[in-house]
Amino acid sequence: MTKKWWMESVGYQIYPKSFFDTNYDGIGDINGIIQKLEYLSSLGVNLIWICPFYDSPMDDHGYDVRNFFDIAKEFGTMDDVKRLIEKAHGLGIKIILDYVLNHTSDEHPWFIESRKSKDNPYRDYYIWHEGKLQEGKKIEPTNWGSFFGGSCWKHDELTDSYYMKIFSDKMPDLNWQNEKVRNEMINVGQKWLDLGIDGFRLDAVSHLDRSEFVDIINAPDRYPLDWHRFSNLPKVHDYLKELNKKLFSKSDCLTIGEVGGEASIESGLKYAAFEANELSMVFNFDHNWCNNIYEVLSTKKLKTNLLCLKKALNKWQIAFKDKGWVPLNWLNHDQPRLMSQYGNHQYPLASGKMLATVLHMMRGTPFIYQGEEIGMTNFLFDDVSQFKDISSVNAYHRYLLDDSDPVKALKKAAIRSRDNPRTPMQWSASYYAGFSVVNPWMPINYNYKKINVEKNIKHKNSLWYHYQKLIELRRFSEYHDVITYGNYEMIDDNDEYLFNYLRYNHNQKLLVLNSFASQRIEYDLSSFKIMKKVIGNYKKQSIKNGKIKLKPFESIVFELKEEL
Ligand code: NOJ
Repeated sequence: MTKKWWMESVGYQIYPKSFFDTNYDGIGDINGIIQKLEYLSSLGVNLIWICPFYDSPMDDHGYDVRNFFDIAKEFGTMDDVKRLIEKAHGLGIKIILDYVLNHTSDEHPWFIESRKSKDNPYRDYYIWHEGKLQEGKKIEPTNWGSFFGGSCWKHDELTDSYYMKIFSDKMPDLNWQNEKVRNEMINVGQKWLDLGIDGFRLDAVSHLDRSEFVDIINAPDRYPLDWHRFSNLPKVHDYLKELNKKLFSKSDCLTIGEVGGEASIESGLKYAAFEANELSMVFNFDHNWCNNIYEVLSTKKLKTNLLCLKKALNKWQIAFKDKGWVPLNWLNHDQPRLMSQYGNHQYPLASGKMLATVLHMMRGTPFIYQGEEIGMTNFLFDDVSQFKDISSVNAYHRYLLDDSDPVKALKKAAIRSRDNPRTPMQWSASYYAGFSVVNPWMPINYNYKKINVEKNIKHKNSLWYHYQKLIELRRFSEYHDVITYGNYEMIDDNDEYLFNYLRYNHNQKLLVLNSFASQRIEYDLSSFKIMKKVIGNYKKQSIKNGKIKLKPFESIVFELKEEL
């Protein structure tokens, strides 16, 4: 295995709209990121992934790009971006940006041309299809549903045809079969690499190919969402190999593909095995929904299904052992907050630290989502007007159709809403949580006086310092090698409360114990020769007669003395 800089990095994901506002418009900006670089550096982060800040009408908050070579005015200017890159590099922080390959905004000049006429030179930049005749009426070419609800086709009056859009109506899908499109997108990537960025997170990359346009039969809904119709299909790999050959391999850049939608290990390896010549790694979502999130609506308490979680994380660790590299991230800007998903509200500090340890001690490149380091939580939505995410608004209206109770519909849409992770970063207990001095574009979470950066930094026992310590252990300590490159082996596989594993190399061995239980659990340590505690979330341990009594959500890492 060739060692790469990104294997030794710790990443941090920034959602710019909600990070830090410096021009008093209630929206985060690039200058805000620049001002917080020292903060990130003090946490120990040396890689940031910034969600799109390109020129955009913001139908999907920037993932709908109108101009790949310009910056949205609410975020700043190209000069700001240059200053950002320079300052970040000066602090030893690399930057990756979203590379949005699957679609553009419908306001992108290519699409404006494309929709003009059937023989426009840009027509084939997008996926157009005639409607289908059904009982004398023209309807969508297929009944496929889109990720954001409704059909994945949109009728366009001008040429009386349909364009494909697997996200919102304002995000037409690019036609990757067209070589011109591929060259244009390579040009986009090249320009950004030339500007000095260090790589990409490839948005929705698994969707660049589509299966034959035939209806889904026996569908439960009018527009069923069957992502197999446009996910992880064979041609995606041809396109990525081409991108790799013409673009990625020419620099030492990092590429992480977003391959949601049940990407199997097999397909994950196709994208990101060392010999695949496609991507450096892939983000998958297997571990994101291991709880009873839907049952919670019928008043049950949220409960983590630990066996599901262990299985999901473990299988990627094992499959990529010698074959590739994985990112280590809990959740991102599209999912609920970690503390609300897997944390425990009675033991927020202990469970937050434990969750951090679970992931940061694994093999891979950790990514922290903004606010995770201080334990930010989901938002308590009490009105649909608080939703800013189009897919949450659509979901709410869909649920209303199923059951006309608006309170239930709101609750249901809120629990998985992508707006949960997008409330502004809670910097302090002052007005607007120190995010802005004016009313922000998204409501501030009610708990900002309790949960904020300033408070975390004041208290040495806070979650923030735990993250800092984990990063310090990985990057700078005597355990750097074993944590970064060591072998991973899960133990106690079938235990429903403990997520335990070993990390080892030729001369070091670590035992990582994590309890997901709110009651005490006794664990037998007699088969391990414990040398010392490396990190833990409780000051004192109770070890007696070779047995440790793990406290609620206790997490502890021991260095072991062992012949290997
Ligand atoms: C995945 C991004 O993470 C999400 O926020 C976005 O809506 C879709 N891709 C479409 O770009």
